[in-house]
Amino acid sequence: MEVLHYPETTFEKLPVAIFEKSDEGAVSVAHEIAELIRSKQKKGKQAVLGLATGSSPIGVYKELIRLCKEEGLSFRNVVTFNLDEYYPMQPDELQSYVYFMHEQLFDHVDILPENIHIPDGTLPIGLVKDYCRAYERKIEEHGGLDLQLLGIGRTGHIGFNEPGSSITSATRLVKLDPLTITDAVKDFIKEEYVPLRALTMGVGTIMKARKIVLMAWGEGKAKILQETVEGKISDAVPASFLQQHPNARVVVDQWAALELTRVKTPWLVGMCAWDDALIRRAVIWLSLKMQKPILKLTDENYKDGSLSDLLVEAGNAYNLNLKVFNTIQRTITGWPGGKPNSNDAQRPERAVPAVKRSLIFSPHPDDDVISMGGTLLRLVDQGHDVHVAYQTSGNIAVFDDDARRYADFALDFAEKMNVGVASTRQEHAEVVEFLKHKKLGEEDSPLVQEIKALIRKGEAAAACRFCGVKEPNVHFMNMPFYETGQVKKKPLGEADIQEVVDILQEIQPHQIFAAGDLRDPHGTHQVCLDAIFAALARLKGREAWVEDCYLWLYRGAWQEWGVEEIEMAVPISPEELMRKRKAIFKHQSQKDSAVFPGNDKREFWQRSEDRNHDTAQLYDRLGLAEYEAMEAFVRYRF
Ligand code: F6R
Repeated sequence: MEVLHYPETTFEKLPVAIFEKSDEGAVSVAHEIAELIRSKQKKGKQAVLGLATGSSPIGVYKELIRLCKEEGLSFRNVVTFNLDEYYPMQPDELQSYVYFMHEQLFDHVDILPENIHIPDGTLPIGLVKDYCRAYERKIEEHGGLDLQLLGIGRTGHIGFNEPGSSITSATRLVKLDPLTITDAVKDFIKEEYVPLRALTMGVGTIMKARKIVLMAWGEGKAKILQETVEGKISDAVPASFLQQHPNARVVVDQWAALELTRVKTPWLVGMCAWDDALIRRAVIWLSLKMQKPILKLTDENYKDGSLSDLLVEAGNAYNLNLKVFNTIQRTITGWPGGKPNSNDAQRPERAVPAVKRSLIFSPHPDDDVISMGGTLLRLVDQGHDVHVAYQTSGNIAVFDDDARRYADFALDFAEKMNVGVASTRQEHAEVVEFLKHKKLGEEDSPLVQEIKALIRKGEAAAACRFCGVKEPNVHFMNMPFYETGQVKKKPLGEADIQEVVDILQEIQPHQIFAAGDLRDPHGTHQVCLDAIFAALARLKGREAWVEDCYLWLYRGAWQEWGVEEIEMAVPISPEELMRKRKAIFKHQSQKDSAVFPGNDKREFWQRSEDRNHDTAQLYDRLGLAEYEAMEAFVRYRF
C-alpha cells in the first residue's frame, strides 16, 4: 500500500512514493516495467531497460519473474544494459554482476542472450576506453534507454558514479569510494578482496534515459535519500542530479523515508493531526534543537520552533512539557522483569508474577549480550528464570583460520587421549585440504560449517555461563533457513517457524525479548523476527499464556531506537557495563576483526557501549536523570 504520510512538500524536489513495505514498492516498480514491455510489444518495438544490481532491485526482479512465469509476460522484445561491473572481474565469479543478473533475473525469463549487455570486467586496461565508448554507442543505436532502474549507495552514488562525478560523465572506468568498498565487504568477505575500480555508465548516460526510477529500502538509506531528494544539486551527492531530470521518480519504503521532512518533522511542513506519539516526538525534537531540557521549554520556544500550532491544539508549554517529561520518565526502569510488590500501573513491565520466565531470542550467537547484555544480567541478578534461544548457528561469520585452529586442537586432543584418532585424522585432513583450495566466497564444506557452528556455540555457552544463565536454559535452535553456508539465505520456511513454536510452547514465557530490526528489510535479523511473529500468530488464541506475554524488541548491533519511541529504558551502571563488556568478549571469533564487520570499523563491544552511552546522554539532555548507559526497548503489541 502506498502511504502518503502528509502532502508532498516543497522540501522534496523529486516525486517520492512511500510504501509501507519494500516488497510493495518493488512490485509497483515491476508492474511499471511490465507495462512498458507490453506497450512496446503492442507497437512491435523493443523495450530498452537500464538495469541495476545490488539488494535494491531484487524484489523487482522477483516480481518480473513471477509475471513471466504466471502471467505470460515475455522478455523477447527486451534489451537490457546494466549500469556497471567491478573491474577487474570474471563473469563466473560469485561477486560479478553477470552472475548476479543471471541468478536474479535472466535465467528465469525468456530474454534473448544477445539482448543482454553488462560492462565487461575482463578487458585488458588498454581496451577499456574504446569499450566504454562502444557501450554508449550501443545504447544509442537501440534508441536510448526507455527506463533506467537505480539503487543508491550511501555515498549518494548511482551506478558507480561516486561523489565528484559530473552530470555529463559517460561510461568509464572509475575508482570506488572507500565507503562503497566497506559496503561491498559483505559480498567479498574481506576488504582486501573488494576490487578498487569499476566500469560504470556515467551520470550523463543515466540522465539520457527517458524515465528513471530510483529505489531505496531500509533505514540505512534514509539519510542519503533525504539529501538526494531535498538537498542542493551537487556532485557531492551524484544522485541529486536526478532533480534535473524531467521524468525521474523515487520509490521508497517507510524506513528509507524516515529522514524526509514530511515524515521526520511534519510540523515544519503544514498542519498536523496531533496525537500523543507525535506530540512526544515534537517536544523531544524541540528540546534537542533548543538545547534545553524539556521542563525549561517556554511558549516562546514553541513559537520559535514552528510549533505554535501545537500550543493551540494541546495547551501551554508548561502542560506539554510535563506531559512528555512524565511519559519519558516512566520508561526508565531498573526492573526489566517488573518490580515485585510495587504499583506497576505506570511501569513498563508488570509486577506479577514476581519471578518471570524471560525468553531472549538472539538471531546470531552474540546479539543477546551485544544488544541487551546489561538487561540480561539484571534479569538473572533479580532472580528471573532466564532462557536464551540462539536462532541461527552464525557459522558463516567465523574465519577459516579459526576453523583450522580448532581442527588442529581436535586432532591433538584425540591423539593425546588416544580416542577416535583414525577418524579425527581423516576429518582433519579433509578440513586442511578443503581450506587450502577454497575459492573466495565459496560455500564451506559441511564439515567446516559444523566446526564453525561449534566454535560459535561454545562462545555463546561461555557468555551465558558468565552471565549466570543456567545451562539447561541455553537453547541452540539452528534454524534451517540460515544453513546455506553462504551469505545468501533461504526464505523463511515451515520448519523454521515450527522450531520457534516448539520453544515457545516449551518455555511459555511471560516476556520475550527479540531483535526488532523492523526497519531493515534484509538479513537474518528480519527473518528471525518474522519467524517469531508467525509462531506467536499461530499460538495466539490457542494457548492462554500468549495473552499475558509481553514482547520487547531490542535493536541489533547497528542502530538504536529513537528516544521518542523507547518504551523501556534500562539503566546500566559503570560496573554492569564492564560485566556486559566481558560477556561480549566471550565471543572471541568476533573479536578484534570480524568476518562481517558491516560498515562500522568499531568492534561490537565498542559499538554497543557507544550506543548505550548515547541513549543515556540523550535522556540527560532532555532533563532526565543522568546514567552511565542505557539499553532501550520498544514493546510490540501482537
Ligand atoms: C548497482 C549499482 C549501485 C547500487 C547501490 C545500492 O548496479 O550500480 O549503484 O544500486 O550501491 O546498492 P544496494 O541496492 O545493494 O543497496
